Amino acid sequence: MTSVPQEKVLDNSVKLLAEGFPFINHRVSRFQSNIFLTRLLLQNVVCLHGPEAAKVFYDPDRFVRKGAVPKWVQKTLLGENAIITMDGDAHGHRKSMFMSFMSPDGLHTFNRLLQKHWKAFIHKWEKQEEVVLFEEAQELFCRVACEWVGIPLREEEARLRAQDCAAMVDAFGAVGLRHFRGRRARSRTENWIKNLVAQIRKGELTVEEGKPAQAIAFHQDLEGNLLDDVMAAREIINLIRPTVAIAYYVAFGALALHEHPVARQKIADGEEGYAELFVQEVRRYFPFAPFVGARVKEDFSWGGHWFTKGTLVLLDVYGTLHDPKLWEHPEEFYPYRFKNWQGSAFDLIPQGGGNHTTGHRCAGEWITIEAMKVSMIFMAKFMEYEVPEQNLSYSLRRMPTYPKSKFIIRNVSSTNIND
Ligand code: HEM
Repeated sequence: MTSVPQEKVLDNSVKLLAEGFPFINHRVSRFQSNIFLTRLLLQNVVCLHGPEAAKVFYDPDRFVRKGAVPKWVQKTLLGENAIITMDGDAHGHRKSMFMSFMSPDGLHTFNRLLQKHWKAFIHKWEKQEEVVLFEEAQELFCRVACEWVGIPLREEEARLRAQDCAAMVDAFGAVGLRHFRGRRARSRTENWIKNLVAQIRKGELTVEEGKPAQAIAFHQDLEGNLLDDVMAAREIINLIRPTVAIAYYVAFGALALHEHPVARQKIADGEEGYAELFVQEVRRYFPFAPFVGARVKEDFSWGGHWFTKGTLVLLDVYGTLHDPKLWEHPEEFYPYRFKNWQGSAFDLIPQGGGNHTTGHRCAGEWITIEAMKVSMIFMAKFMEYEVPEQNLSYSLRRMPTYPKSKFIIRNVSSTNIND
């Protein structure tokens, strides 16, 4: 039984790919409703939008993740049966391990490594005529992530490993070639890390005590069993791959610095707290995750709709971040909107909503914010560069998306870097 708008279509999957990020939001505006029914992947789907709906979506008594992520996304982006597909106590136990890496000490170590690699990359770029920032940032973050996690990365393999992580991310909204590139990248990366996990367990590879690779290799599930080698590899990759994905925000952040020279100057001048406001606005304004999905755990009623067990439900991430009821002039890039922001855990949701420890909210959100602050400070304060004529537009139909030119810079020079 339902009183909510319903699209009378056989299937809308092709339209989803054609419309991209605003797919749900288009219909929210057309139906003037934060909930509507459609059909995707040949099944009935309920689409939800806004913080009230997000609160319901993140209630673990109402939704589960089992069966919510299509296999083709697991085989590229996420890793089959890894943390994001888990529920209940098993998920809580695995998530506690992930969140233990995000302690103040863990974040401090990450920050220190990131600064070290930013300095090295700027000095490298000084010797290059041209730098493709998006690709370079992927390698930079791959090096940081491997060192932070405790995975040895040989100099000659850094580029390939970074490209593979990027290919897994690039595959999430794709069919065809991009999808197959993502699958190949995943199988190569899983083989690489799986062999290292086996070596760690046999004592042939020593990883510093407390580093995530060591903790994951010896993590026991609720029954006291170690994860099998492949699953341990998948969860290690679930730290490295999304860290490489921060390169998307770096490319978008660079675009925002370029288009807003006053904001850039405030970061360069070290205006108190401004870098964080800027980074929050980058995460709100620029597209990354279009939506997140879950399945109904048990029948319940909400918003005029009877949710039946097993139904797929999508929460509109992109649309919620651009909703004029939540954000004044959402299509303007305006970092100060976060100055006296009284937000909740359900409105600024580029990396999911709700609670980090008990729910599925992104385990790496704090790392992402810190990494972006450091990166924007390096770009605004510690380097000078030219931005030549190029195509800086990005498509909202491509998922994921980035500036088409990948943000090219020239004549890089370091300023005020304290080596
Ligand atoms: C989950 C986005 C960076 C680790 C998620 C989710 C989103 C997301 C949308 C799913 C939330 C949900 O299902 O409700 C992003 C974006 C990032 C980023 C846009 C930056 C570009 C990171 C980093 C790490 C990380 C740096 C780790 C170092 C994870 C993990 C999960 C997750 C482990 C699964 C959490 C769970 O199922 O409980 N992320 N993420 N992410 N992310 Fe991130």
